[in-house]
Amino acid sequence: HFPKQIEIIEVGPRDGLQNEASFVPTDEKKQLIKQLYESGFQRIETASFVHPKIVPQMADAQEITSFCNELGLDYIALTPNMKALERAIEAGVPQIAVFVGASETFNQKNIKRSIADSLEECSEMFQQAKAQHKFIRGYVSMCFSCPYEGAISYEQVKRVVEQFVKDGADEISIGDTNGQANPRIVYERFSALKRDFPQTTFVAHFHDTNGFAYANIIAALNAGIEKFDSSIAGLGGCPFSPGATGNVATEKVVELFEAMQIKTNIQQEKLKDVSAFASNLV
Ligand code: HMG
Ligand code: MG
Repeated sequence: HFPKQIEIIEVGPRDGLQNEASFVPTDEKKQLIKQLYESGFQRIETASFVHPKIVPQMADAQEITSFCNELGLDYIALTPNMKALERAIEAGVPQIAVFVGASETFNQKNIKRSIADSLEECSEMFQQAKAQHKFIRGYVSMCFSCPYEGAISYEQVKRVVEQFVKDGADEISIGDTNGQANPRIVYERFSALKRDFPQTTFVAHFHDTNGFAYANIIAALNAGIEKFDSSIAGLGGCPFSPGATGNVATEKVVELFEAMQIKTNIQQEKLKDVSAFASNLV
C-alpha cells in the first residue's frame, strides 16, 4: 500500500554546496534556486547562517535570503547556533533548521560541543524561533553509523529525537550522513521512530555513498515515511564527515517515485536542465 503523493525537499543549495571548495558566485546560486522553484519545489533549503569563516561557501546567506523573500519561496535556512538563528530571524527566514549528531564524536567535531550541550542550546533556539512563529526542522545526523564511532544504536538516535519532540519540532530529518545504511536498518529504525513518536513528522535524508540510497528510500517509504530530502545532481557531502559523498540525487528520486505512480508535483523534464546547470556549478 503506497501513498498517492510524497514531498521532496530540495537541499542542494545548502547541503549540496556547503562542501564546495571554490566559491559559487551568488548570482549562480540565485539562478539555481529560481530554476528549482520553477520546477515545482515548494520547499528548498537555500542557505546556512554558519560563521562564514567556518563554511565560506555560505557567506552570502543574507543576500540569498533577500532573493528568496522576493521570489516568495517557502525556504529553509540552517542555523547551527544561537548567533546563526539571530541572523536568520533578522534576515526574515520563514523556516529554520537546527542539527545535532546522534554520535558524540561527530557532534564534537561538527559543532564543538557535547550532545547534551547542543540539545540545551537547541532548546533555547526552539523557544526563540517559536516566539517568531518560525517553522522548525530538527536534523539528527549520523543516525545509522558514524565514521568515528561505527554503528549507532537506536537509543542514541531516540535521545536526540525525544528532545526535539519535547521542544516542539515541526519535522525531524533523520540523516544517513555517511551513507552506510541499508534497507533493513532503515526499515527497522523508521518503524521504531514511528511507533515511539506517532505524532511526529519524520523526513528521510540519505547519502548515496554505497549506492544503497534508492533502496533505502523505498525501505523508509514502506515504514510509512512520506517526506524525503535530496540534492539536485547529487551535490554535497559534509566537511566534517570524511568519505561522505553526495546526497541522493533529486532527479533520480523524482524519476523513481513518478515511475511508481507516486506524485511528486515536480516537472521531471525541466529538472533535467536544472541538474545539468547544477553539475556545471561545481
Ligand atoms: P565556536 O568556536 O565554539 O564558536 O564554534 P563560538 O560560539 O565560540 O563563537 C566564536 C566567534 O564566532 C564569536 O565571535 C561569535 O560571535 C562568532 P567573537 O566574539 O570571537 O568576535 N560566531 C558567528 N558569527 C557569525 N555567524 C555565526 C556565528 N557563530 C559564532 N553563526 C560553532 C561553534 C557552532 C559556531 C561552530 O562549530 C560551527 O559553526 N559549526 C557548524 C559547522 C557546520 O555548518 N557543519 C555542517 C553542518 S551540516 C550537517 O552536519 C549534516 C546535515 O546536513 C544532515 C546530513 O547531511 O545528514 C544537517
Ligand atoms: Mg546531507
